[in-house]
Amino acid sequence: MTVKELQSEIISLRKKADATILAHYYQPIEIQEIADFLGDSLGLSRIAKEKTNTEYIIFAGVDFMAETASIINPDKHVMLPSYESFCPMAAFLTPEKVREFKKIYSELPTVVYVNSTAAVKAECDVCCTSSNAVKIVKAIKEEYDVEAVLFGPDANLADYAEQKSNIKTIKMPENGHCYVHSQITLEDIKTARKAHPNALLLVHPECKREVRDLADFVGSTAQMYNFAKESPPEEINFIIGTEEGLLERMAQDFHDKRFYIAKEKLICYNMKKHNLELIKYVLEHPDDKKHEVKVPSEIAKKAVIPIEKMLKYS
Ligand code: 13P
Ligand code: SF4
Repeated sequence: MTVKELQSEIISLRKKADATILAHYYQPIEIQEIADFLGDSLGLSRIAKEKTNTEYIIFAGVDFMAETASIINPDKHVMLPSYESFCPMAAFLTPEKVREFKKIYSELPTVVYVNSTAAVKAECDVCCTSSNAVKIVKAIKEEYDVEAVLFGPDANLADYAEQKSNIKTIKMPENGHCYVHSQITLEDIKTARKAHPNALLLVHPECKREVRDLADFVGSTAQMYNFAKESPPEEINFIIGTEEGLLERMAQDFHDKRFYIAKEKLICYNMKKHNLELIKYVLEHPDDKKHEVKVPSEIAKKAVIPIEKMLKYS
């Protein structure tokens, strides 16, 4: 079957299967093209909660995104096309580690990046995503009337939130990071700037501070997309410091603009484990439990609290 044939088969199957397809911007472009909704982590959580009224949610993203969708939609079946699609950053933080930090800093609230397991979320006070981390840190500081917060597992996002809010973030752990974004170096930026001297540099907050500090704009995937969309017509060239799936989306949507990747092979291989064949498979086999994401109810009951608090605050 050709890509086009597979895509049209999926479009007709999803109606019959009573399914909604959600896709993150890092998905292969042929998946982005057939998604009912496309978005960043926060946008997809919101859509999962407010806009999906089907029995099945097919989540083309990594496991923590599907877990979040399942926690806030306990009566729906959330399916991961590839059940091996996980975010390695989440492994930097365990529930035991959070408890250790909470023992040492017992007065401080815990902010957890959504890129974490449900069991870790269950130990924390509020979740955040890359698009609302600054806002959440400010809001939780007010709520607890403290001078600092615990923040994990991404030390770069914690540093970004601290830089923008002037509120100290104690990193849980010190070195949590994303292998895709943290590989971008100053040298890469210098090379990209030299090759495209008139381009604006857009980077994700998971990048290191030295890279973020050189950027014209720092934001989540959806925020970068909107920045390019709303930029004046004379801004034509953009260097993109995030996973290349977003660049492909923008190149398709904004024909009068040019996009250049900050470094070759900025690929999240975990996001790219999904493909059209697997989506077709789950639509045809909705009872295949291997693909269903279910969080044990005692963990879900606790993890929903920081997720709901995030949605309320953002
Ligand atoms: P966004 O919140 O920007 O979609 O980021 C998710 C992510 O995993 C970034 O690596
Ligand atoms: Fe996780 Fe990084 Fe992939 Fe995002 S890009 S899903 S943080 S590994």
